[in-house]
Amino acid sequence: MSLGKMIGDKNNDLYMKIDKQKVPEHVAIIMDGNGRWATKKGLPRSFGHKQGVNVLKEIIKVSKNLGCKVLTVYAFSTENWTRPTKEVNFLINLFSEVLKNEIKKINEESTKIKFIGNLTPFPENLKKIISSSESLTKNNNEFLFNVCVNYGGRQEIVKVAKELALKSSSGKIKPSAIDEELFNSELLTRGIKDPELLIRTSGEKRLSNFLLWQLAYSEIYISDVLWPEFNENEFLKAIIDYQSRNRRFGGIESLPNESFKDSQCSS
Ligand code: FPP
Repeated sequence: MSLGKMIGDKNNDLYMKIDKQKVPEHVAIIMDGNGRWATKKGLPRSFGHKQGVNVLKEIIKVSKNLGCKVLTVYAFSTENWTRPTKEVNFLINLFSEVLKNEIKKINEESTKIKFIGNLTPFPENLKKIISSSESLTKNNNEFLFNVCVNYGGRQEIVKVAKELALKSSSGKIKPSAIDEELFNSELLTRGIKDPELLIRTSGEKRLSNFLLWQLAYSEIYISDVLWPEFNENEFLKAIIDYQSRNRRFGGIESLPNESFKDSQCSS
């Protein structure tokens, strides 16, 4: 975050448009466009990732200040390994550096940090920092910050299917006991409410294998802004847009005294 920037300025008109009672509890973000931002500026892609961290720090503050309880970000997908080794190593080092520098502050602000994904292929030093950061903050309850690394939605679903199949074949559960609740309880996000809102930056309109199960009913907001240029106002615009949606979860809008035969077909 740029020095001296004030978050939550009451004179910011966008705050006036937000209904504090309807702030989403859980926001998920696909932080996209770091590389393009840097290339546009004639800089190496790594500069985009560095600036992306500054933006992330700002968005954690803004979302917390607004009353959100959980923020989940896609920091490294299972597909990101196909990037040049230099960029992969840069990202891995960046995760370690950011954690080393920020964990004290994260803990003081009573934020719990959790890494979601298969950590196995990461270097030992990163795994150690992740583990100590998670255990240091495990009892914090103001805010939950989930970082998805080496995460893939399909891989997560297959893993749950395998675990349930094993439990079923060993007689621990009956196949008929498998339902959404049981499936949920095996996910990496177990115990965390599904995101009400997904934000993706840089104008791309894909889920890119992110939280496929958890996003089933989330509202999706696409911002054309590249992640390194995303900021408080862009986040507020996403929340205002979210609050204007009519969330029906496949049902129909409940209107008083409206009978089924009078209602319109609704998705
Ligand atoms: C997508 O932009 C961004 C990433 C793959 C990395 C995001 C990671 C961070 C901002 C660091 C977060 C750090 C911690 C500790 C949570 P892109 O490179 O795909 O951009 P492009 O689509 O323009 O190429």
